[in-house]
Amino acid sequence: MEKGVLIADLFRNEHEYIGKKTLVQGWVRTKRDSKAGIGFIELNDGSCLKNLQVIAELEHPDYGELLKRITTGSAILVEGTLSLSPGKGQSVELRAERIHLYGWADPALYPLQKKRHSFEYLRQIAHLRPRTNTIGAAARVRNRLSYAIHQFFQDLGFHYIHTPIITASDCEGAGEIFRVTTLDPAHPVFEGEDPYRNDFFAKPAFLTVSGQLQAEIYALALGRVYSFGPTFRAENSNTSRHLAEFWMVEPEMAFFDLKDDLDLAQAFIKKLVTVALNDCREDLEFFARFIEPELTGRLQTAAESAFEVISYTEAVDILLKSAEQFSFPVEWGHDLQAEHERYLTERVFRKPVGIVNFPRSLKPFYMRVNDDEKTVAAMDILVPGTGEIIGGSQREERPEMLLEQMRLKGISADDYKWYLELRQFGSVPHSGFGLGLERLMQFVTGIPNIREVIPFPRTPGHAEF
Ligand code: 4AD
Ligand code: MG
Repeated sequence: MEKGVLIADLFRNEHEYIGKKTLVQGWVRTKRDSKAGIGFIELNDGSCLKNLQVIAELEHPDYGELLKRITTGSAILVEGTLSLSPGKGQSVELRAERIHLYGWADPALYPLQKKRHSFEYLRQIAHLRPRTNTIGAAARVRNRLSYAIHQFFQDLGFHYIHTPIITASDCEGAGEIFRVTTLDPAHPVFEGEDPYRNDFFAKPAFLTVSGQLQAEIYALALGRVYSFGPTFRAENSNTSRHLAEFWMVEPEMAFFDLKDDLDLAQAFIKKLVTVALNDCREDLEFFARFIEPELTGRLQTAAESAFEVISYTEAVDILLKSAEQFSFPVEWGHDLQAEHERYLTERVFRKPVGIVNFPRSLKPFYMRVNDDEKTVAAMDILVPGTGEIIGGSQREERPEMLLEQMRLKGISADDYKWYLELRQFGSVPHSGFGLGLERLMQFVTGIPNIREVIPFPRTPGHAEF
């Protein structure tokens, strides 16, 4: 099959193509005819935001008739000569000599006509929405960030570990877990019968809420590891920053304390933001123009200045002293709500903020208990616009203290025997964190709703496509 040049490459290396025969393939964004017998086609192939302007002759002997049938949404091939454009808005244009129509799109039915569509509407046509500027740009940024995540850790000697998707443990202990079963709800179990006797795993099994516990196993053997994969939470919260299926990056490092963990998290975010600023310039300019006017400043601050680090207790003090009317009350021992997080990072510090040493009662069993015995060596990183994007901690490496934590949180020592054994055999201080890829995407693109930064969002009541 014929293969064209990518429009992104063509724009990057214009001077190599000018005056030469050039072939491109893509989807028509718009087409209009001029009185001077010329047709203008804006062609997009997804390789970049910008469209290539195609100049076609309405009366052309070969393609003149075909041109009449070409509509918005049609998939076409154009071969022609690339020329410097005399018109405004583009530096080059392609003068068509040959056009082929692969697939027509009926203008009476094709939903993406040239006008702005709401994000809510676009979600209903998630099979077509990547052909819009916003969703296309988000997909390219997501791709670049995913690659940068691997680059960052690989350069530092981390090993990529594939932690399981099906698991019997509930790492976060929040009970927001999806069950995995092959039992047929039409055939209920009978009283007295072991409910899992005929189930696939012969015991309760779930979709993972975090790969951390398994990453810890490998960190205590390979030193520095990371997991990066789909993560599932059955949180019944319909918010703009929660998904039932999202992607989490989870580094886990032996011989790292909380301070090391925080330093790594900061370097990681700075690196990712810098990559986006450098390599996704066109897409970010689009987001800054149409989605979030403060975007560029926020990203530059995140890339350049040191994050603020405060303790949970200090955060509560700041919130209590503020004149702000919060809908959720602030009190030591209560979780910080999204509104509190955003107040701290957007109004008080105006940059990313690390919060450390949370109340022991708020956090999962695996976090290392501090000397005050009231707090744990936890850290959250908050960013303007999004709030929490990273949650992590130093892990409890002392067997007696871990057992006490499990007892307090009602976690069975039998079920987590292997986790305890890691503390009995060559235990070391170790730490890690989890970054939600979609929360990072919200921060980097300024897109307000998390449903737009993942190709196919899963939320309560929604698993279409
Ligand atoms: O703070 P969380 O719950 O931390 C953990 O799961 C740890 N086990 C991670 C670790 O230490 N290895 O989740 C980590 C991050 C959050 O900060 C957030 O960015 C993202 O995962 N996240 C979600 N993103 C989208 N939708 C949800 N429902 C999310 N829940 C968490
Ligand atoms: Mg968290």
